[in-house]
This record gives sequence, C-alpha cells and structure tokens, in this order.
Amino acid sequence: MKIIRSIDEMTRLTADLKRNNETIGYVPTMGYLHEGHLSLMKKAREENSVVVISVFVNPLQFGPNEDYDSYPRDIERDELLAKTVGVDYLFYPSALDMYPDEMTVEIKVKKRVNVLCGRKRPGHFDGVATVLIKLFSIIQPTNVYFGLKDAQQVAVVSGLIKDFNFPICLCAIETVREEDGLAKSSRNVYLTEEERKEAPYLYQSLLKAKNEIVAGERNPEIITTKMKELLQEFISGSIDYVEIYSYPELEELQVIEGKVIIALAVRFSKVRLIDNIIFEL
Ligand code: PAF
Repeated sequence: MKIIRSIDEMTRLTADLKRNNETIGYVPTMGYLHEGHLSLMKKAREENSVVVISVFVNPLQFGPNEDYDSYPRDIERDELLAKTVGVDYLFYPSALDMYPDEMTVEIKVKKRVNVLCGRKRPGHFDGVATVLIKLFSIIQPTNVYFGLKDAQQVAVVSGLIKDFNFPICLCAIETVREEDGLAKSSRNVYLTEEERKEAPYLYQSLLKAKNEIVAGERNPEIITTKMKELLQEFISGSIDYVEIYSYPELEELQVIEGKVIIALAVRFSKVRLIDNIIFEL
C-alpha cells in the first residue's frame, strides 16, 4: 500500500489508472478507522481492480463548537488497518493543501439536511458536499462506498452525485451489527455495562416498527409513538429523535408508503447512538 500526501501526485496517479482502464473503488474517511470502514474497504476490494481510501479530517464539516481539534487521529494505526484489507493507495492530504485559500465558490445543500442529525448541525452537510466534490474530482472513482449507518449522508451524497453528474456509482453498504443487533460503532465503548445491555433495544424497536408497518400500520405517528414507548420502557438513555421519512428524499410522510427510513438517536450517559432501518413497501 502506498501513502500519497500531495494532491498533484494523486491527480497524476488517477490519470494513470484511468489510462489503464482500472476500476477505482474509493472509500472516503476521516481516519481513526473502525470495523465499519473496513467492511466498506473489503467490499471495494471485491468489486474493483484498484482500491483508494482517503484519510482527511475535513474542517469544513465541523461547527464552531464541535470537536475538530480533538477529533481522534492516528495515521499509523489507519495505515496498518488499511493494509490488512488490501487497500492499494491511502490518500492523506493536509488541510492546507485541500484549502490553501478561502474558497471562491460556496456549496449549499438545500434538501435532505434539515431532518434527523442534520437538523442540529447547520452547515455540516455543506462541508461534507464541498470536500466530496474536491475528492471526487481528484480521485475520479468508478465506485464510491458509504455505510448506511449514516443514511442521511448517503442520501445527501446520492443527491450530490446526481446533481453534478459525477460518473460514479454510489454503493451503500448495510450496517454491520453485533450478534445482539447493536450497530457496530467505535463509540459503543463509551456505554456503561448496564447501557450496553439496554442498547440492543434500539435495533429491536426498529425491527418491531418495520414488522408493524409490513403488517399494515401506515400511520407514522402511531409507529413512532409505539417505538418511543418501547425505548422508554427498556433504556435509561433519553430519546433524541425517532422519525420516519421517505428515502432517500427524507421528506415527511402522512402515510407510510414506498421506500422509507425509520431512524432514531438516543443519548446515553457518555455517548449518543444512532441507528436506522430502510425498506421498501
Ligand atoms: O463520513 C465521513 O467520515 C465524512 O463525512 C466524509 C464522507 C469522509 C467526508 O469528510
């Protein structure tokens, strides 16, 4: 595996790969890799002749009171992990290289952002879209891989790829789960022993909601109310949101129909967990 730090070198490599008709599977990350990232890289390895990942903590997607400075970084560890799943190139640009001057163009994501986690992070997806436009232009992937754990990001990226006609196939990969259903996340270690026992109820509430919908219940409010009741009974954390939308449009529904997402966020003592389920009726 080769580490590439300069944008110029990455651009030259992209041109060579394209000339040789390679298929480029790309996994964008902010580093501090975990099992979720590795599952995306494994999938990229299976489906492409060349696998590129990027590690870049993008300052533009952090709000003024968010943790850009303290965001965990460990490039040596990331390097070792990426090697184990057969990554060919790790693109690791500096913030100064990516944003040498104030940008002359501002990207504003208009749809799919004012719901779920995006509601409380104004400007976050503008920063994500901006960096992805740059990274897609530099790396020119054939296939790009994102995890459905962050289904809102997948929805925003699918809009971005369509709006800007990027010739890229978006591969949305299912959430990796523990045996008891808890979505894998590096943040799960912050759960207390008691909270860890409660946490599988997040996924159980999603499955129960899906079963009720499939069995015929089509009123979103009835479903979310029942989910909240179940969560309140079995978990000590506080519910941030339980919401149902069309997917990937993330628009409100009066009646549940078509492709939908049920998503939730729960705040435990030291960590906030999110999960979702997406299905088509
Ligand atoms: O999901 C992330 O890690 C980031 O939002 C991404 C897609 C790498 C853009 O900075």
